Amino acid sequence: MNIDVLIRLSEFPTLVSSSVRLRRLGYKDIPIIARHVTAEVVRYLMDVPYPYKMIDAKRFIDKSRRNFKAKMELNFAIDFVSTRTLVGIISLHKVDQINNSGQISYWLGQNYWNMGIATESIRLVIRYAFNVLRLHKIYANVFDSNKASVRVLEKNHLRKEGGLVDSVFKQSRYHNILNSSEKSH
Ligand SMILES: CC(C)(COP(=O)(O)OP(=O)(O)OC[C@H]1O[C@@H](n2cnc3c(N)ncnc32)[C@H](O)[C@@H]1OP(=O)(O)O)[C@@H](O)C(=O)NCCC(=O)NCCS
Repeated sequence: MNIDVLIRLSEFPTLVSSSVRLRRLGYKDIPIIARHVTAEVVRYLMDVPYPYKMIDAKRFIDKSRRNFKAKMELNFAIDFVSTRTLVGIISLHKVDQINNSGQISYWLGQNYWNMGIATESIRLVIRYAFNVLRLHKIYANVFDSNKASVRVLEKNHLRKEGGLVDSVFKQSRYHNILNSSEKSH
């Protein structure tokens, strides 16, 4: 077990840039999360239920708190700085304290797509994961048909490592998964 990671994960961080603020989730976020999670948003998400209700958001926040205490994941609210509202979620999860790796996942409410918010949020989380948590490797698994997500990973210099054919069954069909990663230098 990597003691450094355990110590560094003792307090929930807030990560800030000029356009986004990534912060701890609270129960006050439940209604807006439930509003953002539409059919279009869950289309490419592997483990988010739909229809998505307020109780699903509450369960997610409760799970986030438990898993943060267990040093396994950080689920950040993404606030858009110019409107000061929650616009999405970004997660650093499956934090592996033996192999020093973690997975990122993210979504934004559809009204906020194509404004650079995911690209910037991923940049902040990766920088934190490498510079503060001292993780060695960050990876993401995306549907190969999810062009916007593939692009935001490219823009953050994650490299395609491989793929899994027909490995997720969703909306009555099988999807191929692409795995991309970046390593600390
Ligand atoms: C994927 C997602 C997070 C991207 O967030 P975003 O804030 O819109 O992303 P950004 O604005 O930072 O960047 C989007 C990039 O994808 C490109 N893009 C968007 N739609 C595209 C498409 N259909 N084909 C190709 N590129 C596309 C944009 O042009 C932009 O690239 P550019 O800056 O080079 O022009 C957002 O679309 C989303 O939440 N989708 C639903 C949930 C999801 O798929 N999550 C990821 C699961 S792994």
